[in-house]
Formats: sequence, C-alpha cells, structure tokens
Amino acid sequence: MRPTFADRGARPRATLHCLLAAGAVMLASMQIARAGTPERLSLDPGWLFLQGDVPLPSIKGQGASYMTTKAGEAPGPASADYDDSTWRHVDLPHDWAVEGPFDPDQNRAQGYRPRGIGWYRRYLTLPVTDRGRNIELQLDGVATHSTVWVNGIVVNRNWSGYNGRNLDITPYLRYGKEVNTIAVRVDAEVMEGWWYEGAGMYRHTWLVKRDAVHIATDGIHANPVQKNGRWTLPVTVQVDSSAAAARDAKLDVALLAPDGREVARATAPVHVDALRSASAQLDLAVRNPQPWTLDKPALYRVRAVLRDAKGEIDSAETHTGFRTFRFDADRGFFLNGQPTKLQGVAIHQDHAGVGVAVPDSIWEYRMRQLKSMGVNAIRFAHNAPAAEVMDLADRLGILVMDENRNFNTSPDYMQQLTWLVRRDRNRPSVVLWSIFNEEPLQGTEVGYEMARRMVAAIRELDPTRPVTAAMHGGLFSDKGAVQALDVAGINYQVWEYEHFHKTYPDKPVFSSEDTSAFMSRGAYKTDVAAHVVASYDDDAADWGQTQRGSWKHITDHPFIAGGFAWTGLDYRGEPTPHEWPSASSFFGIMDLCAFPKNAYWFRQALWIKDKPVVKLMPHWTWPGQEGRPVKVRVATNASHVRLLLNGAVVGEQDVAPIDMATFDVPYAPGKLEVVASRNGKEVGRDAVETSGAPARVVLTPDRNALLGDGADAVPVTVSVVDAQGRPVADANLHVHFDIDGAGSIIGVGNGDPNSHEPDKASERSLYNGLAQVIVQGRRGAHGKLVLRARADGLQPAEVLLAVRDAGALAVVPEAQPIVRPGTWRSSPPQSERPDPNVALADNDMNSWAWGDPPLGMAPGDKRWRAFRVSFPLRADHNDGRAHVVLREIAGKAEVWLDGVKLGDKTSFAPGPLVLPVPHGPGWRTLTVLVEAEPGKASGLLGEVLIERGTP
Ligand code: GAL
Repeated sequence: MRPTFADRGARPRATLHCLLAAGAVMLASMQIARAGTPERLSLDPGWLFLQGDVPLPSIKGQGASYMTTKAGEAPGPASADYDDSTWRHVDLPHDWAVEGPFDPDQNRAQGYRPRGIGWYRRYLTLPVTDRGRNIELQLDGVATHSTVWVNGIVVNRNWSGYNGRNLDITPYLRYGKEVNTIAVRVDAEVMEGWWYEGAGMYRHTWLVKRDAVHIATDGIHANPVQKNGRWTLPVTVQVDSSAAAARDAKLDVALLAPDGREVARATAPVHVDALRSASAQLDLAVRNPQPWTLDKPALYRVRAVLRDAKGEIDSAETHTGFRTFRFDADRGFFLNGQPTKLQGVAIHQDHAGVGVAVPDSIWEYRMRQLKSMGVNAIRFAHNAPAAEVMDLADRLGILVMDENRNFNTSPDYMQQLTWLVRRDRNRPSVVLWSIFNEEPLQGTEVGYEMARRMVAAIRELDPTRPVTAAMHGGLFSDKGAVQALDVAGINYQVWEYEHFHKTYPDKPVFSSEDTSAFMSRGAYKTDVAAHVVASYDDDAADWGQTQRGSWKHITDHPFIAGGFAWTGLDYRGEPTPHEWPSASSFFGIMDLCAFPKNAYWFRQALWIKDKPVVKLMPHWTWPGQEGRPVKVRVATNASHVRLLLNGAVVGEQDVAPIDMATFDVPYAPGKLEVVASRNGKEVGRDAVETSGAPARVVLTPDRNALLGDGADAVPVTVSVVDAQGRPVADANLHVHFDIDGAGSIIGVGNGDPNSHEPDKASERSLYNGLAQVIVQGRRGAHGKLVLRARADGLQPAEVLLAVRDAGALAVVPEAQPIVRPGTWRSSPPQSERPDPNVALADNDMNSWAWGDPPLGMAPGDKRWRAFRVSFPLRADHNDGRAHVVLREIAGKAEVWLDGVKLGDKTSFAPGPLVLPVPHGPGWRTLTVLVEAEPGKASGLLGEVLIERGTP
C-alpha cells in the first residue's frame, strides 16, 4: 500500500546498488578501455521481461501527484527500483509474438498471433572512469511503439518499429557502485503493417562510450563521386560534444582499400563548442579504385580519427564502394555503365522459429539463398531493415531499394526518414530511396506536398540517389506524388507501363512490386479445401502474375528498369489466397525457412545467364497413379529438353522463352530424367527418382562450426531418405530433437503456411520432406554441440558442430539489484525526541527537507532529528531474512519500520547498525530517530541499504 504520511504520498525512489556476477566482473575487467578508444558494447544479454502491462493505480493525492511529475520519479515498472524479481530473463533480439499461440480471433494480417504490451528492464553499472565520457544508448528496433526510461527519467518515445534510436543518456547516469536501470515499455497493440511485425526488442541494443568530444553516430558521410572519369571521396564528419567547455581537435580521415592498404588521407581541424556539434569537410582523391560490382563487391573503409593536444580521443569507421549507376527513362538501369535489369525481390523480415528476432547469421543465410537464385536487388518491404542486413547487401553485392515506413511529414516521422538516410547514405548497395508504398493520397495534391517535402529532406542529406515510391494509382493525376519523384515505381499494374512511358517520357520507371504468385513448397496438386497450392507456377493473385508472367512484362519493356517480385521469402501473416487456419504467406519464392519452392528454379532459369539451370518437377513418387498422366515441367535456361523415363525418351521440346517446357508423362515408378541442351550440345541434366518408405533421418547443417557468442546461429535442414538413400519428398512425419553441449535450439519450422506447431520447440513435423532446426552457440561456451533427431521407426541422425571460442565479448555485464531506499525526508532539528510515527500532511512539501544520505546535522541545542524514507521492497528481499544496513550513524538512534521498532543504537560514537527486516507488505516506511551527543554533529552519514540474507 502506498504510504500517505511522512513522505506525503510521494513515490519514493530507491536507487540500486549492484553486485556483479563473477563472470561479469571478468568481462568488465577485460573491457577497461584505453583512453581515447570508443567502446561499442552489446546490451543484448541480460534483460528482464514481462509480457503484459502493469496497471498503475490512479493518482489522486497531492503528494503523489507532486512526486510523479519529477525527473527520476517515473512510477511502476518505469521506475529505477521496481520489483521485477519475478520477471523472465531474456537475451535480445527477442520477439514475444512468435512465442504465442495461433488464435483465430487474432489479426490475420499479423499471422493470427497475439501481440499486446510488454516491458523490459536491464541493470548495469559504469566504472567511475566513465564519468565525463559521452554514453549513448542505441536501440536498433523495437516493435512497435515504445518508451524508454533511464533511472526513472523518460528519455525517448518512438512511433515506429523499424527505425533505430541513438539516445544520449549521459546526463542521467550514475557511476561506481550505483546501478543504472533501463526500462522499456513496448506497445505492440499498434500496427504499422498488414504483415507479421513481431513484438518486442527484436533488434540489437548497444551502449556506446566515447569521449565527450566524439564523432557522431552515423556522423561520417563518405559517398564517392565520379566526375570526368575521376573519383573523389568527399567526406563530412560531424563531431558532437557533451563537454563542459569548447574544445579544439583535429580529424584524420583515411581511406583503406579492401586489402587494408591506405590509399588516401586528409586532415582537418575542428572546433566544437560545449554541447554543440561541428563538422569538418575533407576531400580524398582516389586513383583507380576497385569498383563495387555485383560479382566483386569491393568495399573500402573510411576511418576517421579525432585527436586533441593529448592524443587520440575518438575514432569511427564506415564503409563505402566505388560504383556508378543511373536510371534511364528509355533504357532502364545501368550499373557501372552496364545495362542491368533489377532482378529484385521484396521481402519482409521474419523467419521460421525466430519471428522477427532473426540472428545476423540467419539473415546471412537468407541473403545467400536469394543471391544464389540470381537476385541482384532487394526491396526491404516496407521498412528499413537492421543495419547488419544492409551490411550484408553491401558485402554480398546486392542492390537495395531502401524504404521508409511511414508516409508522414510531421517532425517525429521525418526523423525516421532522416535517420534512414544518414545511416545508409554511404552504402554502395543503395540505389533508390523509397518514401512510401501504396498510399491512398499518392495521386492527390496532399500526396504531392508531402512527397515533395520528403524528397527535399532526402536530397539535403544525399543528393546522389534518386527518390522513388511504390505506387498503385494516381500515376496520371495532374498533381500527385509522382511529380515529386525522380523515378516512378509501379506496383502490379503492368498494363500501365506503356501509358506511363508515353505520359512521362523523361521519367525512369520500374516495377516496384509484381508477381504475388502462390505456391506451397513441394505440393503438386492444388487442394482448395486443404489450403494447398500446386507449385508449377500457374497461380497468382488477381492483381498479380506468375513468376514467369511478371518477368515477361518486364523484359518486353526495355524502359522498365527491372522489378521486385512479391516476395522472395514467405512471411507470417497475409496468408492470401486463404484465411485461418493458414497463418503465413503463400507468395514466397522460398518458404519461411528459406527452402526453395519451385519458383526459385523458375527465377534462376530466368535470371542466371552464365551457367546452365535445369530443374525437373515434380518429385517422382506417385503410388497408385501408375499409367495416369503426371504434369512435368522443366525450369531451364537451356533451349531444348529431352525427357527420359527409366532410360526411354518420353518427350522432347524446344524450350519456350520464359514459359519453359511442360509435358504430360504417364506415371511409372523409376527414374525420370531431363537432358537439357543448347545448340545441340548437352548443358545439364536433372533427375527425380521414386522413393520407398522413409528409413533414416538426415540432418544437414548450413555450416559445421559457429561461435560461442550467444548470437551466431546455424540452420540445420531435417529430411528423410529411404533405405537406398533417396530423399522422400512427400514425407510429413514427426521428428524430435535434442541437443547437448555448447548450444541450444532457438527455433524450428517447416515452411507449411497452415502449420500451427510452435516455433519454440524441440520437435517438428516435416512438411513435404523438410523441416528446419536453428541452433545457437551459447555465450562464453566453446567445444561442440551435438544435435540429434529421431522419428518413430526410423534410424536417427546426429550431427556435431564445432563451437568456437568467441574471445572476450564486448558486452555490458549484467548487474544485480539490491535496494537502496532513496528520496529521504529529514525533520527540522527538535529539542525533544520526535514521535517516530508522526504523520506529515500530504500537501506539505517543505517542512521536512528532501535528500539522500549523507544527511548530517550540525551541533546545536536541538539534538533530535527524524529521517524517513518509503520504498518498495522487492519480493526477493522480502522473505524475512533481509537486513537494513545503516552504514554509519553519528549519535544514538532508533530504527522504526512501518510503525514497529526494529532496534536501537545505544552509543553516541559513529558506527553502523544492521537490523533484520521482517516479512511484510511490499511497500515499507523506515524512520530513523537520531539523537546527537551534546555539542557534536550527528546524522545518517553512510548509505542505507536493504541487503538479502544473513549479514
Ligand atoms: C501489395 C502490397 C504488399 C502485399 C501484396 C500482396 O499491394 O504492397 O505489401 O500486401 O500486395 O499481394
């Protein structure tokens, strides 16, 4: 119960002291940084999580109203000292929605999973040597709306699940033994999309410690420019200061080639006033840099070092690449002078087993799968992806249409846009900024006015890349967004291509979205009632096209710069053409595990030019169908195919450009083979074979080793083979897993959009022959992990992965709270012993002073004083075994808790007092009466703590 006396109903703050876990101490000591060395420490491990909200009692009293409006006095779980002892431990990235059940009453668009509200809290300490440095809290992505408090002070509110925040929390921090509390309330009731968005702190979180004068986050702008065949690298560096006085420094900027060699350097002075920013501009001339191409994406590092008279004070790095591109209104897209159709896919960001909390290494796997399909461009629909994903695009040689989520020009939302551009404007992968997708206002004057402002904001930060938007209407209105755009993106409306080009002969245009075709991986018979779509590439949404159909429209129109197929990968939600019980999409060219559907092979055949592609479909196990025709299709870039069934020719065709080749083959068990040729010369073969009953489980990891850092994760494919080792393509049996050693299973999946099996489990059914288990190396562990899989009646499988020592991890150690009651009140000096239970009026802000120990009293005639504090006692301290520890009291003292005397200090000499805290209510009021020795100073001179267990 809230007290209504003495502290006048104020919600007292207890600051927290911390004990570091032994391991954390070790990590902390490894992190003692050289002066001048910035530290970027992971804050991913060690959070406490509560799913749901915490209702706060409505505040009516004067004292409580007074106090909850004060800095540092946020109520409930936002406060520094909230009792989170029953909360769950989680490491980030974390998506709580993917842990939830499927529920037909939930939103179809969000994958029929509850989202709701959640809270996160994290304790940390900072060494006293950090005092005076600049400390930034970086939250890379929290779905969806969120508020952040540091030590009970609100530091940020954010209205999107897709932008990162770099929060200067320097002023709010405490150092040394004191613990700092970060609290984050996440509201995932709100939606920003019509797809699965997950819920929670699903991207990385960092604590960045730098000198007070430092290079701003995303503060290096280094985007190469080519003029008359010569390259220069104009570099602008923003320097921020949280120092107390103006300072002078010098910036050194070096350009390092992919092999690490320094190839250019420049220096500039900077003067930065206290609490201001300054910027320095430098020009680096670069001779014959290696180009960034799709096949060899050469990345250069730009390294900035900041020095003052005493030496290096900060440094930062970004990467960039040397490439040219242009959009031509008649001839489409050119990269490095070469015509290059954008062979793009749009993707969302969730994966099997993990929801939107996708480990970076799983992103790498997804992007590799896409690249292997011939993808040269990705549209991250309809929002910015994580920085690590953008790094992968730069590193793998994939172009990016970099998309903003919210079409809105009010300041909070413009900040989302400018954050995106500042973060990504050095990246060679980015060739388009996209300001929206399918906005109803797109063809109106309002749409034009908004688009114009967004384009201008982008242009100011990056004049080199065109701005586009994905439009599905309003293209031909007199005034609309299209008039403000450099390049137009058309979604689906292939019939408008010619019309657009005629209307706007000077405006480049591309297909910002197309296809929306349906496939169930490994299925060959459409069953509407069972929500299964055959995967021959014959089915698409009414507004879409097949994989082959959409590409035909693009290649038929040379002025269309390319396109982005909806979608490269399946995602949860939007299970079109179906509803419940289907819970994830059918659009993917690959499924939710990034297992190829046949669409993958069609895309390969359409997109890959430099090697033969031959893929035969379907599988060849059709018991009971003997003699009946089976539809056979070959995805190939060859010009002629011949089909052989058990060695006998059963069909032969010239391959139709784009449509490819289709046969009806009467079924007979055995081996069906295709021989593909070009100009009469065989270029490749593919075969499918009838399989017998499943006999053995097979585990195939994507890699054989991973890091023991609590982050690196490996997808392992689960399949079954028959006694002869042939894959059983239609197996749907149930598989159980167990894992030993230095890792754990973080999720499972099988790519079936109709499955309601949990993502967090150690078992899963195969879907048409495949499932996926994702394993992760444990933080701080090394050695090996062993994954086993067993299914009834089958020979089990076992796979061993090496878990490599990740070395010293740059993480912020987890701190443990103990309670230090704060916001004490002190009575005026008294001549007589005060009543320890005297009540203070709820509206009396001033007769007792405010402040925390040390609370001393000068010698005087009035030798008595009362000190009082109210505080919430954490449940893990409220077991009757905790102690109140008063480190130093000068004078005699009586200690009262909730009106009951706990004990006395009987001597005047300064000294400690330790008294047991009996089990009782969560909210406590402690009163200490101190009597001074005549003529001597007195008071609570040391800190007062509540400690667990026996003292
Ligand atoms: C588009 C939209 C996408 C997705 C797709 C499904 O209109 O931009 O987000 O909903 O339809 O076909």
